[in-house]
Amino acid sequence: MPLLQIRNLTRVFPLGESIFGGGAKGEVRAVDDVSLDIESGETLGLVGESGSGKSTLGRLVLRLIEPTSGSIRFNGRDLLAADHGQMRRLRRDMQIIFQDPFGSLDPRMRVEDVIGEPLIIHENMSASGRRARVAELLRAVGLDQSALPRFPHEFSGGQRQRIGIARALALRPRFMVADEPVSALDVSVGAQIVNLLAQLQREFGLTYLFISHSMPVVRYLATRIAVMYRGKIVEVGATEQITSTPSHPYTKSLLAATPEMEIA
Ligand SMILES: Nc1ncnc2c1ncn2[C@@H]1O[C@H](COP(=O)(O)OP(=O)(O)O)[C@@H](O)[C@H]1O
Ligand SMILES: [Mg+2]
Repeated sequence: MPLLQIRNLTRVFPLGESIFGGGAKGEVRAVDDVSLDIESGETLGLVGESGSGKSTLGRLVLRLIEPTSGSIRFNGRDLLAADHGQMRRLRRDMQIIFQDPFGSLDPRMRVEDVIGEPLIIHENMSASGRRARVAELLRAVGLDQSALPRFPHEFSGGQRQRIGIARALALRPRFMVADEPVSALDVSVGAQIVNLLAQLQREFGLTYLFISHSMPVVRYLATRIAVMYRGKIVEVGATEQITSTPSHPYTKSLLAATPEMEIA
């Protein structure tokens, strides 16, 4: 059974009101009848140009926003039927890493609190147990223990992304959405973060939905690739198959538009 089963998922946004007061101008089907499976332990790469609906899909599967229609099963459970308390427990298993390591961390919190906060909210741990877990998480993302009392602004973009990843890992999730996690970073720093995500996947048995507009980044990490265009998945298949014998013209254009990038 797949860890995540997405069926006919649709999210419609209104395009805003007419200045003449004539009601909605129309709507955008940001995610339009999407069905996808994500197997436990795999990385499903979701690629498509800006505005194709990738972030909306990523937020829908974590129920950070509600779908207009469709269904999502996580580990066999109907996510959309879960009530508030059930959702709260399910969220421990489903985390997100954002594109912007600057905007996604509270600037007033020390690193030890940024990483430890989910443990305070969700786990009944002693202060010393929490400190030990935070230290272990910091080590797992390749940061030095001297980071603990410092504030996010004291770190580089890549280091901040590592802090965000440590926070996302705190509750030992099974599934992570990584929404353009390297797009705000220099290529070499981004490559280090991609390598870290691969290493953490092996270490913690994680399953990823890895979102990027860049085919070279996606193909490095993904087991399979889903290509999104105007709210729809136009092609899905093994990474090797999608990149060597793409069948959809849009996939071909994405491959042509992106020069090879070396990720060591
Ligand atoms: N909260 C929102 N309200 C209205 N429109 C939205 C909202 N979020 C996304 N959209 C629209 O949905 C489409 C897909 O956006 P998004 O999921 O952010 O794409 P991507 O992540 O691939 O760049 C875009 O046309 C965007 O303008
Ligand atoms: Mg996006």
